[in-house]
Amino acid sequence: MGTNRGGSSSSSSFGRPSFCCKMFPAKPSSPSSFTIIRLFVLLILFIFIFNFYSRAILEDEENLNLRLSSQDSVAQQLPQQLPSEKLWEAPFSAGLHSCVNPTSRYQAFQEGDHYITVRSNGGLNQMRTGIADMIAVSRMMNATLVIPELDRRSFWQDKSIFSDIFDEDHFIDSLKHDVRIIKKLPPELLSVPRARKHFTSWAGLGYYEEMTKLWADYQACSFRTLLCLPSTVIHVAKSDSRLANNDLPLDIQRLRCRALYHALIFSPSIETFGKKLVERLRSHGGRYISLHLRYEKDMLAFSGCTYGLSSAESEELRLLRENTNHWKVKKINSTEQRISGLCPLTPKEVGIFIQALGYPQSTVVYIAAGEIYGGKAHLSELTSRFPNVVFKEMIATEEELEIYSNHASQTAALDYIISLESDVFMPTHSGNMARALEGHRRFLGHRKTVSPDRKGLVDIFDKLESGQLKEGLTLQQLVKHLHEKRQGAPRKREGAPDGIKGRARYKAEESRVHKDLPITVIM
Ligand SMILES: *[C@@H]1O[C@H](CO)[C@@H](O)[C@H](O)[C@H]1NC(C)=O
Ligand SMILES: *[C@@H]1O[C@H](CO)[C@@H](O)[C@H](O)[C@H]1NC(C)=O
Repeated sequence: MGTNRGGSSSSSSFGRPSFCCKMFPAKPSSPSSFTIIRLFVLLILFIFIFNFYSRAILEDEENLNLRLSSQDSVAQQLPQQLPSEKLWEAPFSAGLHSCVNPTSRYQAFQEGDHYITVRSNGGLNQMRTGIADMIAVSRMMNATLVIPELDRRSFWQDKSIFSDIFDEDHFIDSLKHDVRIIKKLPPELLSVPRARKHFTSWAGLGYYEEMTKLWADYQACSFRTLLCLPSTVIHVAKSDSRLANNDLPLDIQRLRCRALYHALIFSPSIETFGKKLVERLRSHGGRYISLHLRYEKDMLAFSGCTYGLSSAESEELRLLRENTNHWKVKKINSTEQRISGLCPLTPKEVGIFIQALGYPQSTVVYIAAGEIYGGKAHLSELTSRFPNVVFKEMIATEEELEIYSNHASQTAALDYIISLESDVFMPTHSGNMARALEGHRRFLGHRKTVSPDRKGLVDIFDKLESGQLKEGLTLQQLVKHLHEKRQGAPRKREGAPDGIKGRARYKAEESRVHKDLPITVIM
């Protein structure tokens, strides 16, 4: 998750409900506005033609420059300052904006005496999505939700409880019209045996309605009184409901968004410190890219991506994979992984990528990640192109960071805030953090999020390596073209592939669970 951490959550979700409202100006046009429109069209045409010619001239000049300076260093070859606004501004949003308010059909919830307790699983982002999903589940089942327990067993072994990471009172209060949430089970229910259930992921409304039978069916028997009574508490073993694609009623989907984006905010201390770090970053140079550089040991070992590593490093990663029981796939062909676009970009590749997109050498690049594998040795291939690479440790003091050490989820939360607020967010791997942030940034107004086309890029990088391609204008054009539609603009969701029927469709649709994340694996 967060930090490193690749993230967890399913990501899921988030894209859909944010584009539900579109505003069209619906004024009839008068004759005079017709003339204005015609003039306007002519103007646009003129600008277009002018642009076309001036660009052609520019390109010729650049080609010449490149030929003349082919001996120079890479950094000097490339134009240092490209039209800079374009690099930072949000993509065209077509007037789409978030709308998550309840519809007029939405009814107040029914207060009952049924309770759900849940142990949320995964890293920070996976838990966040899971918790928002549990709000929807509680609503569908007319149950009171007890504040979820957090995962202490995931990869990072964080012992934080809910209120260490999230603003618990705000969470309860802001959902008070949707679901009743309580901090703890009432004392008289603590000793009552609970119906334990592992809810099926990717289920729809019908499934959850069916599940309400558990309360009646499950008999909690007491040895002391020899009485059996229907249980009033269901304990859910995991929060992996994966509700994004399941044909749920609109109001339930909107509720998920309200839960995730309005209710589930970080604790005041994390929020304040995160914002402070953002300010410090901005004081460095104004705008910054947040790079989720998922080039971490666990990720590389898990995915079997050893491209560019020494044989000693590859062996170290292989052993880690071999010895981690819950990573099921042991034999991985690194070459095949890479050409299929399944590997995180390497620091060197990221450097070439950001440069090819046109960002100047002076760009501030914040690294939202844990420890980069190979440390300085690998990182230098990025810092040689972008010297203003910034780590948390460079904008916070040791004392400030001390309370976060050994609390991976809280550190992840800081990276989440910094990445959410960044001018550009760029993940190097399509994990849960990447998708959670992409969705959240879209929700907040289509903030620029550049998602690398790793498959296409590998193709380009390989040509670069074999000498078929050189760094320069052609490379820039290829890379830019590949990413024109990958900047976080609104887009239609892709449905499940043809031929998949029934509930399998939910799972096959995009934003499904990402099997590529070590932390999503439950021990
Ligand atoms: C929940 O309560 C609503 C009324 O508020 C009712 O229509 C619905 O059937 C209930 N659902 C379940 C699963 O009990
Ligand atoms: C890995 O896959 C590549 C490409 O398919 C192939 O050329 C190579 O021989 C494979 N390596 C091993 C060790 O199987």
